[in-house]
Order: sequence, then structure tokens, then C-alpha cells
Amino acid sequence: MSREHDEIDWPQVHALIDRHCREDRWTLIPLVQEIQKECGYIHPEAIPIIADRLKTFPSVVQGVISFYAQLYTEPRGRNTIRVCRGTACHVRGGKTILKLVKQHLGIDEGETTDDLEYTLETVACIGVCALAPSMMINQQVYGGMNPKKVGQLLKRKDEDHDPA
Ligand code: FES
Repeated sequence: MSREHDEIDWPQVHALIDRHCREDRWTLIPLVQEIQKECGYIHPEAIPIIADRLKTFPSVVQGVISFYAQLYTEPRGRNTIRVCRGTACHVRGGKTILKLVKQHLGIDEGETTDDLEYTLETVACIGVCALAPSMMINQQVYGGMNPKKVGQLLKRKDEDHDPA
């Protein structure tokens, strides 16, 4: 499957590595953060290159990336949808909301659509239990979700991305 963001700007990645790598593994976290900021994610092929420059093992670099939930080794969607799977949402139909979002996007949780518009995640609690069931699109929280509202929200979001 080809994805537009698989096109990594390798000269840029190497320039970032040059800037950060001083044979000090403590530069690792700022380096991978900056690569992700510039490229959208940390390409797995960059891991052995970083390890080599920091004179450490690829498993150490991979371990740090895996430890931080905000670091990714796969392309992410431009929009992140988070559906709450907490207890309050669950008892008020959260499972149905998640199923509908999955159906609409054609992906499972943890996946990204092929056009890189959406990444779908679930979270333990969004923090608005009184509004259950709830979900988020990027930083915007939506409560009192129901099947109709899911359809409207995702349709509106799709239209936002249609070229005018
Ligand atoms: S359980 Fe869903 S917002 Fe808290």
C-alpha cells in the first residue's frame, strides 16, 4: 500500500541527525521529537542510522520511541479521532459509537486511513463523563454522541477536506 507520507525527505532527516548527534544518547529524545515534527513520524529506517550516530543499539532507540505514546513509527492522519472507551461512555453506548466510526472510516482502532486524513484511537476517559458517550476530533470534544451525530460529524469533516 503506498501512502503519500512514505516519501520521507531523507536529506532533511540526515541534517536533523547531524544537528543533534554528538555521540550522546541523551540527545536522542529531542532528535526523534524533531524528526517526528518535521516528517510527521519517525521512519523505521531512520532508527539504525540514529543508533549508529549515537553509538548505541537500534533496540535502545526503538525502546525509547515505544516508551513514549506520542512518538510514532508510522504515518499519522491529519486528523486524530479518539473515541472514549471508559466506563461511563461504555454503559451509554460508546461501543456502538466506536463501531460506527470504524465503519465510516473503514479502519480499526490504531489505524490510519489510506488517504492519511484520519487516525483512529480509543482513550480510557476523555474527562467529560457527564456527556457520555463522547469522542474527540483533534482537540475538539463532542459529547452526547449518537449514531446520527457520528454521521453528521464525520460527513462535515469529510466536506471540510473536499477541494472547493
Ligand atoms: S468515561 Fe468517557 S468521558 Fe469519561
